[in-house]
Amino acid sequence: MAGTRKLAVIGGDGTGPEVAAEGLKVLETIAKSEGMKFDVTQLDWGGDRYLKAGAALPDDGLDQLRKFDAILLGAVGHPDVKPGILERKLLLDVRFGLDQYINLRPVKLFPGVETPIKDKKPEDIDFIVVRENTEDLYCGAGGFMHKGTPNEVATQTAIYTRKGCERAIRYAFELCRKRNNPKGKKLTLVAKTNVILSHDLWWRTFQEVGAEYPDIEKDYNHVDACCMWIVKNPEFYDVIVTTNMFGDIITDLSGIIQGGMGVAAGGNINPDKGGVSMFEPMGGSAPKYTGTGKINPIAAINAVSMMLDQLGEAKAGKRVMDAIQKVTGTKMKSQAAGKMGYTTTEIGDLVCEAL
Ligand code: IPM
Ligand code: MG
Repeated sequence: MAGTRKLAVIGGDGTGPEVAAEGLKVLETIAKSEGMKFDVTQLDWGGDRYLKAGAALPDDGLDQLRKFDAILLGAVGHPDVKPGILERKLLLDVRFGLDQYINLRPVKLFPGVETPIKDKKPEDIDFIVVRENTEDLYCGAGGFMHKGTPNEVATQTAIYTRKGCERAIRYAFELCRKRNNPKGKKLTLVAKTNVILSHDLWWRTFQEVGAEYPDIEKDYNHVDACCMWIVKNPEFYDVIVTTNMFGDIITDLSGIIQGGMGVAAGGNINPDKGGVSMFEPMGGSAPKYTGTGKINPIAAINAVSMMLDQLGEAKAGKRVMDAIQKVTGTKMKSQAAGKMGYTTTEIGDLVCEAL
């Protein structure tokens, strides 16, 4: 049994703190029941701090985070802060600084949850996206020339390294093996090798690493085709591995087919020894719902389940996942904010009861 784990909670902006609080409530309940101990530190980093102190997080913020076993993030985005600032400081700098090179996004339609895709059932929508999380267009390599003139030039370079794509691809193969899908183990590489020539590095690395996994079916989609298949035949997928930019886009598409941003969660994972990972509901800060008790905390609770799994507490993670599904399947009217049939805190209570 592991000792006391140190958890940092960054509630962040808007409804972030409210949903993070429900995630924590569920964490405390499962911890008591499973005999785990968490030492929780709340960090008031985000838009309000930025407006008051001129920085979303302290100068030594990343060093502070390195001392924790895991991080739970509520939401990022403040109506009075220009878009891009908080996202870079609270999300991208942490992902890059802590080398959270995997962005893991399970796509699972829970019982009772509505999907916009006609006739699809929970057994049809159950796959997981491994998004590379530290490279690509997100590196910020580029700039402007003759800015503001008719001759302006803007460039942004996608950077891929052998190490970066290999570790993402290897992680995805291992995950696929571990998932052991009864329908068959399959890993789909999503890229755009017909146009983006540098994706050949992904293609070759996928073939080479794939040779070590003869038990796993190897599949390839161009990203545009993948968007069609996700809507038409989501049951086709088991595990997807893809680049940072494409992963960003296809996981919003996937998020909506699993019932939307009130449900979808993700983990920014550094799987290496001593690595610190950060878990987040995928929804935004939804400022208009702040303090109204209308926001859906299921995604944040889902993030807690992922966190437990990553911390090596698979049984506890699964118990939380099962409790979530009991609540979506038998209690909640809808996953949309304000239409759940319960308030934010009541949903947290229901999940705790279901535990
Ligand atoms: C996400 C978000 C972020 C991203 C933004 C807010 C920078 O869209 O986590 O998917 O692009 O990664
Ligand atoms: Mg996104």
